Amino acid sequence: MPTFRKGFRVVANCALQSYVFGMSKRVVIYGASGFVGKGLASMLSSEGWEVMGVSRKGTGAAPGISKWTTPAEADLSDCDAVVNLSGEPIDQRWTEANKRAFHSSRVGVTNDIVQKISALAEEHRPKVLINASAVGYYGGRGDEILDEHAAHGAGYAADLCVEWENAAIKAEAFGVRVIRLRIGVVLGRGGRAFEKLMTVFKAGIGGRLGNGKQWTPWIHVDDLRRAIVFSLNHPELQGAVNGTAPYPETNASLSRKLAKAVHRWVFLPVPGWVLKLVFGGFGGALLEGQRALPSQLLKAGFEFRYGKLEDALQDLVHM
Ligand SMILES: NC(=O)c1ccc[n+]([C@@H]2O[C@H](COP(=O)([O-])OP(=O)(O)OC[C@H]3O[C@@H](n4cnc5c(N)ncnc54)[C@H](OP(=O)(O)O)[C@@H]3O)[C@@H](O)[C@H]2O)c1
Repeated sequence: MPTFRKGFRVVANCALQSYVFGMSKRVVIYGASGFVGKGLASMLSSEGWEVMGVSRKGTGAAPGISKWTTPAEADLSDCDAVVNLSGEPIDQRWTEANKRAFHSSRVGVTNDIVQKISALAEEHRPKVLINASAVGYYGGRGDEILDEHAAHGAGYAADLCVEWENAAIKAEAFGVRVIRLRIGVVLGRGGRAFEKLMTVFKAGIGGRLGNGKQWTPWIHVDDLRRAIVFSLNHPELQGAVNGTAPYPETNASLSRKLAKAVHRWVFLPVPGWVLKLVFGGFGGALLEGQRALPSQLLKAGFEFRYGKLEDALQDLVHM
């Protein structure tokens, strides 16, 4: 009899869920296997979204994803939203072969998404596309304060972001609300930037890069995921949105705060020429900064949990 009761409870639960989730919204996440995407899927599914993940392997392990597919087979028909977080990591040498991968995983994938949307009848199209971009859009801008109205900058990374965003904007012609999320350095456990910083600072060899005056627009990964969920739920948000914390740091102050958080001294600065020698074009980008502010998110009422770097480090280093 207890088994019968248990079975009844499961059926009743499913009925309730299908009643509630019958009206649930569907979201397709490209790059769902990545650092930001993994946690985003579980956040969305816990809010009642049905989440489909897109990965080149056609499978994955992120919690909260009900179905995986490949980019070629992804079906965007009748989904409410698409989130595109695809992108070959840019923190590697900018060789011609790598540049092709940077381009195809960003501009190429975005073009494919828009192509799929364009092939759908109006009533079956997603309502919103949240497309990753990066603060590299602004190029190197010294102390200039950069909200979303600032013009794009110059150089390889800026040109790539412009092309990436222009590919996403094309979805607007099909009635889709498009958000171009200009993401800063994402700090979170398991993230490439944070883990690298932790390795060198914990070893006591972390120091500022170049003169350290360049601004680093950072964001805690939880806030970035929350900002994506917020953007899905706020139709008034549209266009460029800076995905950065409200208090960017110069590279020198970021280095000091990181060293303090792990109880080490700040080591010698890394000269700019060494960065360029070791990392090539990417080394040059590390010496450029963007004092980006999340004006659109703040205007729309988004509340950051980790607005200040000290709060983010308190959470990430001491948790
Ligand atoms: N993390 C940051 O600090 C940061 C800063 C600025 C901007 N962004 C942007 O934000 C997005 C998400 O960042 P993330 O840190 O989550 O990235 P990530 O962990 O590197 O994941 C990116 C995803 O893109 C897919 N991908 C990688 N290379 C690809 C290729 N050559 N072709 C097609 N797909 C490819 C991968 O999916 P599969 O292998 O499963 O196909 C991967 O899951 C990216 O577009 C990134 O450029 C990140």
